[in-house]
Amino acid sequence: MSDQVTLTRDGDIAIVTVNNPPVNALGVAVREGLVAAMEEVDSDAAIKAAIIIGDGRTFPAGADIREFGQAPQPPALFEVCSRIEDTTKPVIAAIHGTALGGGLEISLGAHYRIADQKGRIGLPEVLIGVMPGAGGTIRLPRIAGIAAALDIMISGRQVGAKEAADMGVVDRIAEGDLLEAAKAFARELIDEGKGPRKTSERSEGLGTPEENAAAFETARNGIVKKAKGLYAPARMVDSMEFSLSHSLQEASEYERDCFMECLKTPQQKGLVHAFFAERASAKVPENGRADPRPLEKIGVIGGGTMGAGITVAALNAGLRVTMVERDAESIEKGQQNVEKVYDRDIEKGRKTPEQKAAIMARYTPSTSYEDLGDADLIIEAVFENMDVKKEVFGILDKVAKPGAVLASNTSYLNIDEIASATSRPQDVIGLHFFSPANIMKLLEIVIPSNAADDAVATGFALAKAMKKVPVRAGLCDGFIGNRILGKYATSAAYMVEDGASPYQIDKALLEFGYPMGIHAMGDLAGLDIGWANRKNNAAKRANDDRYNGTIADRICEKGWFGQKTGKGWYVYEKGDRRGKPNPEIETIIAEARSSLGITPRDFSDEEIIRRYLAAMINEGAKVLEEGIALKPSDIDVTFLYGYGFPRYRGGPMKYADMYGLENVLADLREFEKEDPKFWKPAQLLVDLVEKGETFDDLNKRAAG
Ligand code: NAI
Repeated sequence: MSDQVTLTRDGDIAIVTVNNPPVNALGVAVREGLVAAMEEVDSDAAIKAAIIIGDGRTFPAGADIREFGQAPQPPALFEVCSRIEDTTKPVIAAIHGTALGGGLEISLGAHYRIADQKGRIGLPEVLIGVMPGAGGTIRLPRIAGIAAALDIMISGRQVGAKEAADMGVVDRIAEGDLLEAAKAFARELIDEGKGPRKTSERSEGLGTPEENAAAFETARNGIVKKAKGLYAPARMVDSMEFSLSHSLQEASEYERDCFMECLKTPQQKGLVHAFFAERASAKVPENGRADPRPLEKIGVIGGGTMGAGITVAALNAGLRVTMVERDAESIEKGQQNVEKVYDRDIEKGRKTPEQKAAIMARYTPSTSYEDLGDADLIIEAVFENMDVKKEVFGILDKVAKPGAVLASNTSYLNIDEIASATSRPQDVIGLHFFSPANIMKLLEIVIPSNAADDAVATGFALAKAMKKVPVRAGLCDGFIGNRILGKYATSAAYMVEDGASPYQIDKALLEFGYPMGIHAMGDLAGLDIGWANRKNNAAKRANDDRYNGTIADRICEKGWFGQKTGKGWYVYEKGDRRGKPNPEIETIIAEARSSLGITPRDFSDEEIIRRYLAAMINEGAKVLEEGIALKPSDIDVTFLYGYGFPRYRGGPMKYADMYGLENVLADLREFEKEDPKFWKPAQLLVDLVEKGETFDDLNKRAAG
C-alpha cells in the first residue's frame, strides 16, 4: 500500500482509509494505495466487503493541485475508478465532507455509497474549464439520470447528502457515526449475499433511447443559455451521449479525449488563472503583519442603496448591525430597504418568516450617532459629497470607541481628506462595496496613507465573514475598478462619437462574453451617476482633453437616467428589464457628431473589442505602475467580480498576456496616432514588452 492509504480489518470487513491532509487529494500515492488496497481485498479470502473512507475532515475532495501542469503519473484516476469497480467483493464509499471531482468519481467506482448528513458531492471541473475525466460523465447519468447529471456537471454546484440520496447517487444517509453505519451497511450486504454492483452497468437513471435523445437535445439548447461561451459543457454532453452506445473502455477513452481537448483551450487557462487569482487576492502585507481587530458589532451610516445592501451583507454574516440615518423618515425607509431583501427571499422560498425575524433581531435602527459607541467597525455610505462625509467622520471621531475601524464606502473621494476630519486617521480605511452590496462579491479595501495594519486586516476579516472577494487598492481617483472603468467607458464614448452605434458596441461585448454591454450597464446603474461625476470633475479637466460626455450629457438633460426612468440608451417598457434601442438616441448622436464636426465611420466588432480592451489594459498597467494594485491578478479579480468581465477569459490582464503584450502595445501605438494623450502606452507595458515578460511574471514575483 502507501503511507497515504491504509487497510485495516474489522472481522471480514476491510476498511481502506485515505490519509492525505488537508483534503485527501488524489495524488499519485493515494491512487497507487487505492489500487493496492483493492488487490488485497480481492486476494484475501477472509475479506468479504470493503469500505473506502477519508481520514480527517473529508472524503477525497479532488485531484492534487500540486500535480497540475506536471507529466501525468500512473495509475490514472480513471484506471483507479475502474479497478475499484472491478473488485470482486462489494465496495462501499463512505462520504463525509466533500466528495468532489475525482473524489466523487472514486465513489462512483465503488458499488455502494453512504454519506453522513453533512456530506456533499459535486463535479466542479467546469469551474476551471475542464470536465470529469475519470468516468464521471459515464457513471453518474446511469444512476442520477442525464438531466440531473448534466445539471451537476454544468453548474459545478455542490449537492447535499439528502438531494444526492433523492437522485439515487447516495444509497444511504448515516444517522450517527459514518464508519459504524458503513460497517452495518457492509454487514447487511454480506449477510444478504449481495455482490459488487457496477455503476457503469446500471441503467436505472436512464430513460428509453428516445427520452435520452430528448434529454440531450434539451441540454444542448440549455447550454447555449446557461453556460454561454463555455467550451467544456458541450463536451460533457458529447461524452455522456457517446457512453450510452459504447463499451466502458471506449467511453473512457472518448471521455479522456474530450477532457484533453478542454485542457487545451484558452478558456481553461483563463479559468485556472481566475481560480488562483481569487485565492491570492487576500495575500497582502498588512495581513502578514497584523491580526484583525475584534469584529462583532457593525455600524452603517446611510440606509440608501448601498447602506441597506451593506447592512444585509453584515446581517447575513451573523454580525449585529446598527444603522443610522438623518431623520425618522429616512431611517424608516432604510429599514424598508433592508426588509425588502428578506421579503423577496421569503417570496422565493429561500427564507422563512421565522428566519427573517431571527436575522432582524440583530438589527437596530437609529437616528442618533451616539448609538454607535460600542461598534467595532462603522461603514459610512452617505451621499458622495466631501463636505457631508467630513461632517460624518467628525462626528464619528467623537462617538466611536477607541480602536473602532472607521470606513468609507466612497466611490471616488480622497479618503486621506475624509480621515483628516478625525483625530485617528490610523483607524480610517475605504471599504468600497459594489451594488447590490448584499450580492456582488467584490470588496475593494482601500488603503489611505495613515491606515494602521490591523485596521486594514480588519477590512479583510470583514470580507471573509461576508464571503466576499477582497482586493487591496491604493488611493487614487476611482481606486482600481472605477478608475479603469472610466478609461474604457471613455473609449466607448469616443467610438460612438466616431461612428459606432452604442448597440453594436453592446452586442460586440455580449459576444466577447460580458453578461451585458456597457450602455445597458449604464442604464442599469443610472446614467445620472456618470453625469454627476463629469460635473464634479469639470474643473479638473484639461482644455486639451477630448470630452467624453457630449452625447451622454444630452441624454441626461432629457431626464433619461436609464432603467429607473424607463428610458436611457434603451427604452424599458413596464416589466421589461432588457430594453429595446431608444429610437431618439440616434438623433442625439447625429447632432453631437455634427456639432463636433465628425464624419462617422464604420467600426468592425473586432476593432471595438481591440479599443475597449486596449484602454482597459493600458490603464491597468498604469494602476500597477503607481502601486495602486499590488499585482496584475488583483486587477483581474476586480473585473471578474465587480464588472462582469467574462471569467473564462481570466480577467483583463490575463487576457492581455494571452493576446500578447506586444499586440496590445501595437494597438496602442496605432490608436496613439489619433489621440496621443488618451492612448499613451503605460511605461510598464513598454518595459514588459522590451524584456519579453508578461503580467503573469509579475504575479509570480508578487507571490515570492
Ligand atoms: P443613496 O442616495 O441611495 O443613499 C445615501 C443615504 O445616506 C440616504 O439614505 C441619505 O438619507 C443618507 N444620508 C445622507 N447624509 C447623511 C448623514 N449625514 N447621516 C446619515 N445618513 C445620511 O446613495 P448610495 O447610492 O447608497 O451611495 C452611498 C455612497 O456609496 C456614496 O458615497 C456612493 O458613491 C457610494 N457607492 C455607491 C454605489 C452605487 O452603485 N450606488 C457603488 C459603490 C459605492
